[in-house]
Amino acid sequence: MNLHGVGILGVGSALPANIVTNLDLEKTVDTNDEWIRTRTGICERRVAEEGITTSDLATKAAQAAMADAGVGVEEIDLIVVATVTPDVPLPATACYVQAKLGAVNAAAFDINAGCTGFIYGLSVGSQFVKACVYRRVLIIGAEVLSRILDWSDRSTCILFGDGAGAVVLGPVAEGQGILNCKLGSDGSLAHTLYIPAGGAKIPTCQESVEARQHYVKMSGNEIFKFAVRAMGEVTAEALEGIGLGKEDIDFLVPHQANHRIIDAARKRFDLPEDKVIVNIDRYGNMSAASIPVALDEAIRSGRIKRGDLLGLVGFGAGLTWGAAIVRF
Ligand code: UT7
Repeated sequence: MNLHGVGILGVGSALPANIVTNLDLEKTVDTNDEWIRTRTGICERRVAEEGITTSDLATKAAQAAMADAGVGVEEIDLIVVATVTPDVPLPATACYVQAKLGAVNAAAFDINAGCTGFIYGLSVGSQFVKACVYRRVLIIGAEVLSRILDWSDRSTCILFGDGAGAVVLGPVAEGQGILNCKLGSDGSLAHTLYIPAGGAKIPTCQESVEARQHYVKMSGNEIFKFAVRAMGEVTAEALEGIGLGKEDIDFLVPHQANHRIIDAARKRFDLPEDKVIVNIDRYGNMSAASIPVALDEAIRSGRIKRGDLLGLVGFGAGLTWGAAIVRF
């Protein structure tokens, strides 16, 4: 058994240039800027231009992370893409990323764990490095959610945005890097956030399209309550597992689903506001991309520094949840 640690060697992100504001949405759906801002904290979101796919954004984010890490594309051993908006149902989006990067030595697969996908990816990817199976692993959270939203449903379409974030994992000194991950799921709540059609249960057909079953359906209230509880509990568990407490955290980087969820979880966790990274105002909920994009921005702006103890925490469709404690 090898005892080295697994760390984040580089971080990058990619966002579509196209900005859609709440005022823009007011023109097309029965909503208003005030409702969206006060209920969610969102002011604007990015929406990918026509023709741009999840693998395009994922590839850009991966290139930025590799440049940050000083890692060449031929060194990449594995590409994991966490997404709920694959380019196509088959094959994995990670395979398109592998081809676009020219990562000729890399294996590639996707993870679908909803908005928790990036945390699941970190956990899975780090096992390969820890076991000395691979040395350089790309974990990417990437979404073009704008393509699976019902733009006439105001309860969902105002919430989400497009983007991608990536990290390169590799061996680091013992006691550094990803110190612990905790993952969870409760499939009995799958119906609270799902897309009914387009899979084996209801293959896409004229009826399913007419019934708008190829779009996201969500029970917002149920998820809200679940999220506040799950975020606090799983972060505490991940810390306790390595003998640490919330007072040791320098920054919490939570999934950006709703400012009120982040704030309620922060209060339950008794953390000051300046220890929590929030960018939902500018990007909305980018599902699997939200945590790595927030992480990248906080590093670029100089808020998060090498040596800081980070709590990355997410929840989402499945339902799933997870936290990673990282000595960055
Ligand atoms: O990444 C995980 C994915 N999902 C989530 O994390 C979602 C978690 N849930 C939430 O963020 C919140 O539940 C929402 C933002 C989705 C909804 O906020 P809420 O405070 O739970 O509102 P609500 O659903 O209880 O709706 C309150 C009212 C309703 O009107 P009535 O029945 O009180 O007259 C809605 O019809 O607000 C209305 N409403 C809107 N009004 C203006 C719902 N959506 C909108 C809208 N604009 N976009």
